[in-house]
This record gives sequence, C-alpha cells and structure tokens, in this order.
Amino acid sequence: MSTRYQEVAANLQSEPKVWLVTGCAGFIGSNLLETLLQMGQKVVGLDNFATGHQYNLDEVQKTVTPQQWENFSFQEGDIRDLDACRKAVSGVDYVLHQAALGSVPRSLQDPITTNAVNINGFLNMLVAARDEKVQSFVYAASSSTYGDHEALPKVEERIGRPLSPYAVTKYVNELYADVFTRAYGFGSVGLRYFNVFGKRQDPNGAYAAVIPKWVAAMIRGEDVVVNGDGETSRDFCFIDNVVQANILAALAQPDGVNQVYNVAFNARTSLNELFEYLAKALGNNGIVYDKPPVYSEFRAGDVRHSQADISKAKQLLGYEPMHNIVQGLEVSMPWYTQFLR
Ligand SMILES: NC(=O)c1ccc[n+]([C@@H]2O[C@H](COP(=O)([O-])OP(=O)(O)OC[C@H]3O[C@@H](n4cnc5c(N)ncnc54)[C@H](O)[C@@H]3O)[C@@H](O)[C@H]2O)c1
Repeated sequence: MSTRYQEVAANLQSEPKVWLVTGCAGFIGSNLLETLLQMGQKVVGLDNFATGHQYNLDEVQKTVTPQQWENFSFQEGDIRDLDACRKAVSGVDYVLHQAALGSVPRSLQDPITTNAVNINGFLNMLVAARDEKVQSFVYAASSSTYGDHEALPKVEERIGRPLSPYAVTKYVNELYADVFTRAYGFGSVGLRYFNVFGKRQDPNGAYAAVIPKWVAAMIRGEDVVVNGDGETSRDFCFIDNVVQANILAALAQPDGVNQVYNVAFNARTSLNELFEYLAKALGNNGIVYDKPPVYSEFRAGDVRHSQADISKAKQLLGYEPMHNIVQGLEVSMPWYTQFLR
C-alpha cells in the first residue's frame, strides 16, 4: 500500500463518507463497492444492468459483514435519465462514475447507443453532481484517447486522433469535465484506465476483454484466438491498482484536481507473452492447457502498442500500483477457475 493510500484509508475509516458508484454491478464498479464497504463507507450504487449483473452484487455481499452491507443502497436506473442521476447523487460526498458502455468493437457495431450512454449519460452525471455540489467527481476515462499517437510511453498531454467511436466518447468526457471546471468551477478527476483485469470481469459475450475471454477458452479446452501476430502489446492493469487510484483521486489535494491521469502499471506485455502467463497461472491452479494459439486478422480500431507513463499519478495522487500482471493473474486465477467451472 502506498503511504498516501494508507493515510487516506485510515482517515476514511475514522470518518466515513457517502460515495456514489455508478456502474456498481459491473467489473470495476463492483470491486470499488467491495473495497469501500470493507472500509466502512456508505455507498449508493446506480446501474441499469446493461452489462453488469446482479450476481456481482451478490458476490460483493458475501465478502462484507452484514453491517457493512447495510451501508449499501442500490438504485436501478439509467444514466441517460437525468432524474435518475439526480436521485442517485442526492446527499453524496464523492462520485466514482464508472457506468458506460465499454468495448471498441461494440462502439463500431452500435455507435449511437455508445454515444448516448457514454456522452449524454456522462453529461447528466456531471450536471447532477455539479448541482448537488459533491466534494469530488472521479470518472473512468480511457487509454483509447491516445488513439493513433504512436509515442511510448503514453504521457497525458500527448494524444492522437481517436480510432473508434468509443474513443471519441471517452475523449468527449474529458472535454466536458474540463469545460465544467472552467465554466462552473466544478472540479473533477479523469482516470485513463489501461486494460484493467481481475475478478468479476465478464468472460462471456461478444465484447469480452482479452484476459477473461482467453481464460474462459483455456478452461473449456477451446482454441485461443489471437487477433493479429500476437506482438500487439498492452499495459495490463490489475483491478486493485485501479481501486487504489479511484480512492486517491476522490481525496486528491487541490493541485491533483482538474486533471486526467494514466492508471496502469507502466509495463508492456505482448499478447504472445500474455498467452504464456495465462497458461502458467492456470497450470498453477491445476488446469493444463497445451494447445498453441490460433492467429487471425488484426482487429479494426485497435492500437498496436500501449504503455503508460504513470509518473503524474504517482506524483500528484500518491498512486503506487502494488501488482504487476503476473502478480495480478495469480490473485485472479482462483476466481476464474471457480467462476467458469
Ligand atoms: N475494463 C477496462 O479495461 C477499461 C479500460 C478503460 C476504461 N474503462 C471504463 O471503466 C468503466 C467501467 O468498465 P468495466 O470494465 O467495469 O465495464 P462493465 O461493463 O463491467 O461495467 C459497466 C457498468 O455500467 C453499467 N451501465 C452501462 N450502461 C449504463 C447506463 N446507461 N446506466 C446505468 N448503468 C449503466 C453496466 O450495467 C455495468 O454494470 C467504463 O466507463 C469503461 O469505459 C474500462
């Protein structure tokens, strides 16, 4: 744990706050919910179950005490509905806005719905949070904002042109957040996540992310399909690092607010390396996968390489990611093997 995170966690435990986690039935949202409840915080959750699941909430319930669970109140609602956003944000100190439609391919398939949720929904949340005068507004931005800018590692101020409708929506979020600071004095913090992974990331469906999709295929003994030659690389970020970044961002000092930050580990892993790491981690959990990967076409809208410079988040937020990809996979694998069997 970073020193700053330890300090923030201790303060929160002695003086609990009210948090709103949008998208709380999804992967990242449910992990935020779990940690906040375990820290004794009060949490309001908002989700319409578009891609989230009741069983994620049920699983969180099992990880907390009955008293901690009583601190959670769930509102089923859609961020495209301003009244639902206003209701959810009422009486809240800190907002962690995660609800959105993820996935580059989904946005290429259906840009209209992605736009409506990720831009209109985001704007509703900003307006509701501004009017409620919440103490902080942290939102899920994305590494997709770097688009076709090829320089590595990615530094916050140097971005390229978006490569997908999803990337456009996430960049527009940053533009709106910035304008709300200048036009209304409403501060916020954007966290550009880089390929997050961990428990409760959905392995099913056409738009599953690469790690849960491959783990599911390996456990079922199916082919693992690699888009392209396998040398595409990503800065995979374990979920606990993302939870830490959110909590630090909500409690950021004044010079840390009105900023966007990379949230990653600052390492680059190729898909071929990822395949090896996954097979090894599964082997450690008693599952042998000995098929070679199957190579297919490159996927439209994907960037070739990605790696984050995380010095800004380290410096201004006190972010210290605790798990690299191998350590994160070790922690996550028992969950996948249990969930997928
Ligand atoms: N997972 C990653 O690697 C990654 C990377 C970059 C950015 N992000 C961003 O992080 C956030 C969380 O992503 P995730 O991976 O947990 O995805 P997820 O799909 O598991 O979670 C998103 C949640 O938002 C909810 N939601 C969707 N539309 C909604 C609506 N209209 N109203 C209310 N709730 C709605 C879904 O039901 C789901 O529970 C998203 O904003 C995503 O764009 C994720």
